[in-house]
Amino acid sequence: MPPALKRWLMHLRRKSLYMLTSSENWLPSGSNGLKSLFEGFQLQGKYFRNRVWVPPMCQYAAPQGAPTAWHERHYATLAISSGCVVVEATAISSVGRVTPEDLVLDDVSLLPAHQRLVDGIRRAGAVPGIQLCHAGRKGSRSSPWRGDLSLSVKEGGWPILGPSAIAFGENYAVPGEMTLGDIQQTIRQFVESAQLAERAGYEVIEVHGGHGRLVHSLLSPISNLRTDSYGGSFENRCLYAVELARTLRSALRADTILAFRLSCVDWVNNGIALEDSVQLSRLLGIEGVALIDCSSGGIVSPILKKTHPGYQVQFSNAIKVGAGIATAAVGEIFTIELSESILESAQADVIMMGRRSLIDPTYLMRCAALAGYWDLVPLPYRRAMERLLRAEIQLVPEL
Ligand SMILES: Cc1cc2nc3c(=O)[nH]c(=O)nc-3n(C[C@H](O)[C@H](O)[C@H](O)COP(=O)(O)O)c2cc1C
Repeated sequence: MPPALKRWLMHLRRKSLYMLTSSENWLPSGSNGLKSLFEGFQLQGKYFRNRVWVPPMCQYAAPQGAPTAWHERHYATLAISSGCVVVEATAISSVGRVTPEDLVLDDVSLLPAHQRLVDGIRRAGAVPGIQLCHAGRKGSRSSPWRGDLSLSVKEGGWPILGPSAIAFGENYAVPGEMTLGDIQQTIRQFVESAQLAERAGYEVIEVHGGHGRLVHSLLSPISNLRTDSYGGSFENRCLYAVELARTLRSALRADTILAFRLSCVDWVNNGIALEDSVQLSRLLGIEGVALIDCSSGGIVSPILKKTHPGYQVQFSNAIKVGAGIATAAVGEIFTIELSESILESAQADVIMMGRRSLIDPTYLMRCAALAGYWDLVPLPYRRAMERLLRAEIQLVPEL
């Protein structure tokens, strides 16, 4: 990477960290009158206690594929005060992993560990969800802290699959072009994995259809140059996602929420444009998908585009209006005030708060307390919060 680009990226990274830490005291100021955010609501008949959800965030901490003690603690903490926690991208098969440390859900032996995660999330009052993923041509990598390098089979990697034999980038392996048999097999694996997820107790199942992973790579003309029924026209490129949604919906319980994360735009010429995603979302809605989680990018790298708080809300708004489907907004929604204004202006049904939840997991609880939603504050913490909020002279507290 050229040094100037590296410096610019470093500058952007520092700026984001600054935004996360400097704009708020640990008791945020603007939490009064937050109606839309903290009220309970129903999505396809399922009740969620509020509209702030935790989006999937990979931990790359599962060397055996199963959730560990780290995941249990992590997800139980993130569940405090949030409406739903969507557990990180979990591979539907070992070939579908991004790294050797991904969570996997392809066998009953993994159920007890997933059940413990579900239990922790549910006890904290949030609805347990999970994102299911096939990494496609972006698989067989080392984790970010091991350099994000392509892993050969000798190094513990595995042969990867994609719609066409086109590598994602310079330091990526060329995927094997999927046969029709491979395509059908991955759909079956998604279904088997989703059924295991249901058995573990997950109530929201999100398909990872973005960020250049397999589903996205079949949707995008940048990565899909197939000439059969899964490539070429827009309808053909959507066929996999539509078939997947249909097959999943018919295999899952009626009360399981099926969601899709999309990269709503590819941010490159001739890639997926917002109108395509609106049309696809309409098709997915017809197949019974209840929520589109509106992200972007990931089909090429790097994308030289400056982001700003709420930069993807426009996609959520366009899909909600254009496709008539519930949406989640995600991406630099770091404050409760921005979340509330997005909901108030009906640009999304759900706010996904990622890095803020990860780095500052009690943020939502503090906001909820200030707004008077004490039921979102765990009982053992309430006394501490109430004391801080009392507008009286503090005497030496009797703790
Ligand atoms: C540590 C980390 C891991 C992530 N892992 C995933 C993932 O597993 N699946 C996914 O779709 N997005 C993943 N993302 C993207 C987030 O879900 C989210 O879309 C992104 O961080 C933007 O939201 P934010 O600005 O609120 O953090 C990850 C992001 C982070 C920071």
